[in-house]
Amino acid sequence: MGNDLKDEEDNFRDRAVTIRLRSVSKYYQSSQATLRVLDNIDLDIYQGEILAILGPSGCGKTTLLRQIAGFDHRESGSLLMDGQEIVKPEVKRIMIFQDFNQLFPWKTVIQNVVYPLQVNSIGESDAANNEIALQYLKLVELSGFEDSYPHQLSGGMKQKAAMARALTLKPKVLLMDEPFGSLDALTRISLQNLLLKVWRETGVTIVFVTHDIQEAVILSDRIAVMGRGTVGIKKVIPNLLDRPRVVGVAGYAEIYGYVYSLMDINSER
Ligand SMILES: Nc1ncnc2c1ncn2[C@@H]1O[C@H](COP(=O)(O)OP(=O)(O)O)[C@@H](O)[C@H]1O
Ligand SMILES: [Mg+2]
Repeated sequence: MGNDLKDEEDNFRDRAVTIRLRSVSKYYQSSQATLRVLDNIDLDIYQGEILAILGPSGCGKTTLLRQIAGFDHRESGSLLMDGQEIVKPEVKRIMIFQDFNQLFPWKTVIQNVVYPLQVNSIGESDAANNEIALQYLKLVELSGFEDSYPHQLSGGMKQKAAMARALTLKPKVLLMDEPFGSLDALTRISLQNLLLKVWRETGVTIVFVTHDIQEAVILSDRIAVMGRGTVGIKKVIPNLLDRPRVVGVAGYAEIYGYVYSLMDINSER
């Protein structure tokens, strides 16, 4: 790593931009006031990267991710994927949530994973779709649990199934909202490693939201640090630590400390 983290942004200049946000604003209205959650956000997301969106609770991370997904109306600004305006959810961008209850409880694991293929009329036959589902269940290391119901799975296994279900659609971009936030520390590390394996094997672009500096540093190629209100994205920090990474690897303390200083933790509510 170089001494000046700012100069390392140069490492990303030549990469293809998959998603481009320009002056994106999103407000919520209450009876008394207008809450300007996103105020003129600019951001480029590069093809194949892992981008962490890091910030304190309530700063607008989920709001930003939902904008990228195409779930919500926005007040202003432009949001492009491969040059086309994002106006609605599409299978090329799939969102995974923190909530363990994102699977259909009345369907088995394989039925859950195959479901997006069925509703989107993808695949030549049910048998072919089952094969695809099995392939992704293997990738997320859930083989053998195809016929289990969600209530029979641990939280980590549910998140694996949610990942498999998202991947069957071969999205270009995975959007993940604190996907490991509700897991115990060891399961979280295991799922982080699994996510990196999925990323290496599929080449999918990953945008994930976290409030965990360590998770951002271990997983990401770049970290977008957000603050509350009009602060928006304070800084986008390139993270060039060699992979595989563990806490304490050379350069870890430097980038952790830099991100920590940007988070302004002691002045947060
Ligand atoms: N649907 C909504 N209606 C009104 N206010 C909302 C809504 N969703 C989020 N907010 C508010 O917007 C701010 C940002 O929320 P959110 O994007 O969920 O933050 P984060 O994910 O960083 O915790 C918070 O103050 C939250 O209360
Ligand atoms: Mg959130």
